Amino acid sequence: MKKFLALFAMGLAVLFNFNAQAEENNMTGKKVLVAYFSATGTTAGVAEKLAQVTGGDLFEIKPEQPYTGADLNWRDKQSRSSVEMDDMSSRPTIASRVADMSQYDVVFVGFPIWWYREPSIIDTFMEAYDFTGKTVVPFATSGGSGMGKSGEIMQKLAPQAKVLEGKRFPSNVSEAELKQWADEWL
Ligand SMILES: Cc1cc2nc3c(=O)[nH]c(=O)nc-3n(C[C@H](O)[C@H](O)[C@H](O)COP(=O)(O)O)c2cc1C
Repeated sequence: MKKFLALFAMGLAVLFNFNAQAEENNMTGKKVLVAYFSATGTTAGVAEKLAQVTGGDLFEIKPEQPYTGADLNWRDKQSRSSVEMDDMSSRPTIASRVADMSQYDVVFVGFPIWWYREPSIIDTFMEAYDFTGKTVVPFATSGGSGMGKSGEIMQKLAPQAKVLEGKRFPSNVSEAELKQWADEWL
């Protein structure tokens, strides 16, 4: 009987430890990628927290040609960002690729809101991979605007994916809030 109890206790210990581990590493069976573009670091901060709470891999969508301060001037109609965002077919080149996109089930895609939607480089990203069977969850930071039509546009560019509307977060969003939000798809 003593032996049995000892074995039972050991079994419980293993089980609980496994559960704790699963919680920590998001071993819910879904493999997560957090891909983000950030011109001035705000979205990067949120993306890092999100990768931490989901146990996901982090990938920076880096433009081959980085955006300068002048490029980001929205008051200048001739600035690079103004010209790109004025042209729905603009596809700025990304410097590198996700090594193996096929392994992921849920892909969070983060960006700053530019002119009430996703920056053109996100359009490049959406067209660059086969998202068949994957859930794409957009997230953003902004000066106050919401997601606008970002999710809708991204869905059109990657029809094989299930692209959700996603959510805009303040730069100081807590890890707890991000976890609660992200858990819905994990
Ligand atoms: C070209 C450009 C356009 C922007 N358009 C908007 C906008 O339409 N609405 C808004 O609330 N913020 C807008 N912003 C502000 C950014 O969304 C905000 O500062 C964001 O948090 C920056 O993220 P990042 O540091 O990751 O690049 C714009 C910024 C730039 C550079």
